[in-house]
Amino acid sequence: MQSCRLQGTRPEISTSCVLWKLLGTMFIVYLLIMGVSSFTIQPEERTVPAGNCQFRGKHFKTKFEVEGEPVVLPCPQMRYWLRASASPHVSVTWRKNDSARMIPAGEDTGLWVQDGALWIVPAWREDSGTYICTVRNASYCDEMSIELKVFEKTEASLPLISYPQILTLSTSGALVCPELSEFTRNKTDMKIQWYKDSVLLDQDNKKFQSVKGTTLLLIHNVSMEDVDYYSCVMMFAHKSMRYNITRTIKLRINKREEETVPVIISPHKTILASLGSRLTIPCKVFLGAGTHLTTLLWWMANNTNIESIYNQDRVTEGQRLEYSENNENYIEVPLIFDPVIREDLNTDFKCVVRNTRSFQMLHTTVKEATTFSWEIALAPLSLVLLVFGGIWMHRWYKHRTGKAYGLTALKTGHQEFDAYPSKIKEIK
Ligand SMILES: *[C@@H]1O[C@H](CO)[C@@H](O)[C@H](O)[C@H]1NC(C)=O
Ligand SMILES: *[C@@H]1O[C@H](CO)[C@@H](O)[C@H](O)[C@H]1NC(C)=O
Ligand SMILES: *[C@@H]1O[C@H](CO)[C@@H](O)[C@H](O)[C@H]1NC(C)=O
Ligand SMILES: *[C@@H]1O[C@H](CO)[C@@H](O)[C@H](O)[C@H]1NC(C)=O
Ligand SMILES: *[C@@H]1O[C@H](CO)[C@@H](O)[C@H](O)[C@H]1NC(C)=O
Repeated sequence: MQSCRLQGTRPEISTSCVLWKLLGTMFIVYLLIMGVSSFTIQPEERTVPAGNCQFRGKHFKTKFEVEGEPVVLPCPQMRYWLRASASPHVSVTWRKNDSARMIPAGEDTGLWVQDGALWIVPAWREDSGTYICTVRNASYCDEMSIELKVFEKTEASLPLISYPQILTLSTSGALVCPELSEFTRNKTDMKIQWYKDSVLLDQDNKKFQSVKGTTLLLIHNVSMEDVDYYSCVMMFAHKSMRYNITRTIKLRINKREEETVPVIISPHKTILASLGSRLTIPCKVFLGAGTHLTTLLWWMANNTNIESIYNQDRVTEGQRLEYSENNENYIEVPLIFDPVIREDLNTDFKCVVRNTRSFQMLHTTVKEATTFSWEIALAPLSLVLLVFGGIWMHRWYKHRTGKAYGLTALKTGHQEFDAYPSKIKEIK
């Protein structure tokens, strides 16, 4: 600073002097900000009264638990407090709605707060009720409540305490023993026993397999008979006491979307087209009562996808159409040539349809429409007929007027008539 002031007296101000001045100013501004902010935070710390806390409402989920087992109630609004639990300035307290008393922290009472969550080990029916979690720091405080219902484990309480899980008929799937994360944290020797309607599923069971070290129960080839209550039991030890943690699952089974074997009903094996013209070949698939959803339909050229072989250029796949006629479902995907070129006559096109039940394809080739076509072949004939028709009209007219020279005209016409007797008959 000193050297700068000396330099500053000179007529030309050096860059180092400007930098020094800038740094000095920034330092003063920084000190001012720090001072002001410390003054604004300090009074606020004192203005948050203990009871004045914002209530954020009740958590949507009610915890249903089995009597005699450990329960962990998560603090519902904790996730809104970013990294709050890690901050030493954040405090989490719990109380039960019907008592103003804070829940004493301490494992001896069987009630304690750990990482913000309330542990009740074990929970009894009297512990049912509304619990309020309060989170506060120096300047802010909020509360949310969560409801706990503890039941005796009876048949009647099963629908209340069970978690619904869904598997699909005739497939293999897994049940997950839910809401164990609080208990399985830092645990490597997790052991879960599975029961189907209170009957232990043993290790040798082929259909039901508990996956070691996980919370999963595999069920092979799910059938309607598997609809039942399942329970998973995990052992939890605390203060030389062993507790069971039971979760009950009600398995529901969904039928698969109906699938039929699709039938390709169009195109034909060969398609006639003239070179240089636009051509659309629809591939139409009949599904009957089957679903559109799982049916894939696409075109290939020389065993390659249309998009990759033609680069979305001359030959493209059109938009997929899904429709129903007389309650039967159809899908259609057109193949569009714009235009047809000679190369297409040597290319193997195929329409492919696939769903989980079948895979089918139909080959089609584009053939050049020959210059010999029926229209062209029949053109001279129609000309002849036109001439004959004209003559006949003429004759008829002459016949009505009764003029004699009409007979010569009739003779000429008759000769023509004889030349194409069979064709005339066809037309008649
Ligand atoms: C606490 O309980 C009372 C009555 O039992 C009820 O009116 C009140 O809404 C409850 N408070 C919460 C936060 O659930
Ligand atoms: C207290 O928490 C609120 C809300 O999470 C936050 O906006 C505020 O910065 C925190 N105050 C202090 C001093 O940590
Ligand atoms: C699945 O179970 C059904 C009867 O529940 C049986 O008919 C079918 O063969 C089984 N499938 C397999 C792959 O085991
Ligand atoms: C835990 O469950 C097992 C059966 O899985 C049972 O034998 C045992 O008595 C239960 N323990 C407690 C403390 O309820
Ligand atoms: C497909 O293969 C045939 C010969 O195998 C070839 O003549 C034709 O050009 C190929 N088509 C395309 C689009 O590559």
